[in-house]
Amino acid sequence: MSSHPVEPSELIGLGKRYWLSVYRPRDVILDHGKGARVWDSEGRDYVDFGAGIAVNALGHQDPDLVEALVTQAHKLWHASNVFYSEPPLRLAEELVEHAPFAERVFLCNSGTEANEAAIKLVRKWAAGQGRAPENRVIVTFKGSFHGRTLASVTATAQPKYQEGYEPLPGGFRYAPFNDVAALEEAFAQGGVAAVMLEPVQGEGGVMPADPGFLKKVRELCDAHDALMVLDEIQCGMGRTGTLFAHTHDHVTPDIVTLAKALGAGFPIGAMLVGPKVADVMQFGAHGTTFGGNPMAAAVARVALRKIASPEVLLNVERQANDIRKGLDKLNHEFHLFSEVRGRGLMLGAVLDAAHQGRAGEILDIAAAHGLLILQAGPDVLRIVPPLTITDEEVAEGLHRLHATLAEFAAKQAKVA
Ligand SMILES: Cc1ncc(COP(=O)(O)O)c(C=O)c1O
Repeated sequence: MSSHPVEPSELIGLGKRYWLSVYRPRDVILDHGKGARVWDSEGRDYVDFGAGIAVNALGHQDPDLVEALVTQAHKLWHASNVFYSEPPLRLAEELVEHAPFAERVFLCNSGTEANEAAIKLVRKWAAGQGRAPENRVIVTFKGSFHGRTLASVTATAQPKYQEGYEPLPGGFRYAPFNDVAALEEAFAQGGVAAVMLEPVQGEGGVMPADPGFLKKVRELCDAHDALMVLDEIQCGMGRTGTLFAHTHDHVTPDIVTLAKALGAGFPIGAMLVGPKVADVMQFGAHGTTFGGNPMAAAVARVALRKIASPEVLLNVERQANDIRKGLDKLNHEFHLFSEVRGRGLMLGAVLDAAHQGRAGEILDIAAAHGLLILQAGPDVLRIVPPLTITDEEVAEGLHRLHATLAEFAAKQAKVA
């Protein structure tokens, strides 16, 4: 039980008064967590099926992460990239050791910053080849999400994130996801320098690439001398049951971006680059003050070691099976989902035609029943729990989801 003396409504009032209104959080003050459970300031507990939007891969208060952070806090907080410190150097080495496709690493602070680096690198690479600016096009996919900076939101082929921010940077072309013929057509228009995609689209509705699609992207990139950029910010770092999501597809990308679970709750991002582009960015070409911060890197080293372990990756597979089975059972009872899709512990329960647009409502009911889950757009319930979630936590989360859906269904029945 928290001893917090402050009324939640007072704190919530501060958010409503002082924060820029770009978020609409639920009216709960989260106070502390342990494993896949979180407690609010009034002592109510929640099963965490959202992990801070696929971030807290090792749950809350993992003792090894806490130790790494505290130890580093007593040594050096920040060095900047004009001096070396050990944690980011070791992290880069360890990332490359884990990534057969990669030779070098650029460390930064967030997903959008990693993607911004990737977009700039593609442009620099194409420029270095003597390609005119109009021949430096990056193809991305409808339903994608690549971040909120101006270039990454332009890569994000969803108008709702772009509206009002025009003029957007040029040089992006959009194709429907999982549509090989449309991608061929995008190449046929000429000038393509790269294709950028998420192996499993996250914000766009938890949509995995079809079997063979990534291979086809690779083939087309090779045939047209274009780079293959994979955004594994949400689906990477063990979430699909392998450290990198593209491992399932047996492809070798040129660039992979990571963030979210890389720091398991401490902000850090990374761009990993393969041999074709490892030397494109030279002194002065790009930079960041905080990227590779020793505190973030110290935590990420431990996160990487633990997430890459067979125990964690096998747990992903096992718990994913149990959650899928649980969702199927719930659907048998309540008939709300047209399908359950995703990979590993990145699952989307798609609301059927009769319940489209209602995901937010279900999330509100879930919070009242002590369950934190997410949506991916208005029609999909998204489940992305810590990768270390236990049998008991899964069972309790499904139990609370049952109560949630029962209440939602009862409300429906009243209206009908
Ligand atoms: C696939 C993907 N790329 C990029 C981002 C942006 O990451 P960040 O919010 O850390 O900038 C996200 C965030 O949800 C994401 O899911």
